Amino acid sequence: MRFDVVVEFADSPVMGKSIDRGIGKAGVHGARKHLFFCIGPDCCASEDGQGLWEYAKKRVKGLEVPVMRTKAACFRICTGGPWLVVYPEGIWYGAMTRERLERILIQHIEGGRPVREWVVAENPLARDTRAAVEE
Ligand code: FES
Repeated sequence: MRFDVVVEFADSPVMGKSIDRGIGKAGVHGARKHLFFCIGPDCCASEDGQGLWEYAKKRVKGLEVPVMRTKAACFRICTGGPWLVVYPEGIWYGAMTRERLERILIQHIEGGRPVREWVVAENPLARDTRAAVEE
């Protein structure tokens, strides 16, 4: 299902094109997964988190599955990071390393099988939002 972007300033040709460009650059319409990272500073050492983020930026470009990635400021867990949350499944992975990310990208993102032994929490939000969107 595709949702069109509706914003207050969409009737401005300049802002509309600017938003369209950003939406395209972000890969919103083609994305099959969205990866959210918390890279510290409270849940992990900032340099560990930043290293993971830099690795993720390079690595997701080569995936067979179109993926969006977002650096979140804080998930309010503030321990046990860096954190990765994968949507639409709503699967939370903690203690992320490059090695863990690599396996998650291959097994979960491309293969569709979450790395169960590393899943800390799971909440697929889509099961609730679909009904709300269709109302
Ligand atoms: S700083 Fe990562 S969860 Fe709060």
